[in-house]
Amino acid sequence: MEIIQTENINFRNKIIALYLETFSSGQSEQYIDSTEISRYIDGFFVDGKIIIAHSSNHLEGVLLYGQLNKDQLLPNKIKDNFQLEKCLYIAEIMVSEEFRGKGIGTQLIRSFFENADKEQYSDVFIRVWDENLAALSLYEKMGFQTVSSMNQKKIKADKSGTFDMKKIYLHKKLV
Ligand SMILES: CC(C)(COP(=O)(O)OP(=O)(O)OC[C@H]1O[C@@H](n2cnc3c(N)ncnc32)[C@H](O)[C@@H]1OP(=O)(O)O)[C@@H](O)C(=O)NCCC(=O)NCCS
Repeated sequence: MEIIQTENINFRNKIIALYLETFSSGQSEQYIDSTEISRYIDGFFVDGKIIIAHSSNHLEGVLLYGQLNKDQLLPNKIKDNFQLEKCLYIAEIMVSEEFRGKGIGTQLIRSFFENADKEQYSDVFIRVWDENLAALSLYEKMGFQTVSSMNQKKIKADKSGTFDMKKIYLHKKLV
């Protein structure tokens, strides 16, 4: 297995499949629109960055990141206290279910810190659902600290209505 930052479009479909596999069946039971997700992933090939953990046969994990100022939902506490153009945002991190618990999430985040442009950026943020204890524990182990939170409206998996998810923003300095 190797971990690399890549712009190789050949990984596009596998990244979309991993996203759908991860978040359609997760504990949150939210509705996922696959066309919208394809567009969202394509955006990272245009103006984001992509780190993958892969072997010859499998895409084992992915980390997607970009500039923080693209996050429309950013709490004022962050807007007012950081220079947004100097901040990166880890938008997604996901490890294929059969490969979890083997250190891949940890290695993806380490690779992010190695690859991030530290001349242009000084800080990184990540947003996580407060009930996602695996992810929260991983980020805290990697040195991230909670700075703010917000409620995000999500559509229920059966489309019968919406519900609020409490999201926590965590922060770490790049160097
Ligand atoms: C969160 C996720 C990326 C972790 O990836 P992973 O490769 O399994 O993580 P690692 O093996 O590197 O584990 C590192 C640490 O994370 C925490 N962790 C990982 N899985 C955990 C679990 N099931 N329960 C509690 N803590 C867990 C632990 O602190 C672990 O450290 P330890 O091994 O010393 O106990 C993975 O579970 C995943 O893809 N989940 C679904 C997608 C998701 O929720 N992404 C985050 C959205 S913000």
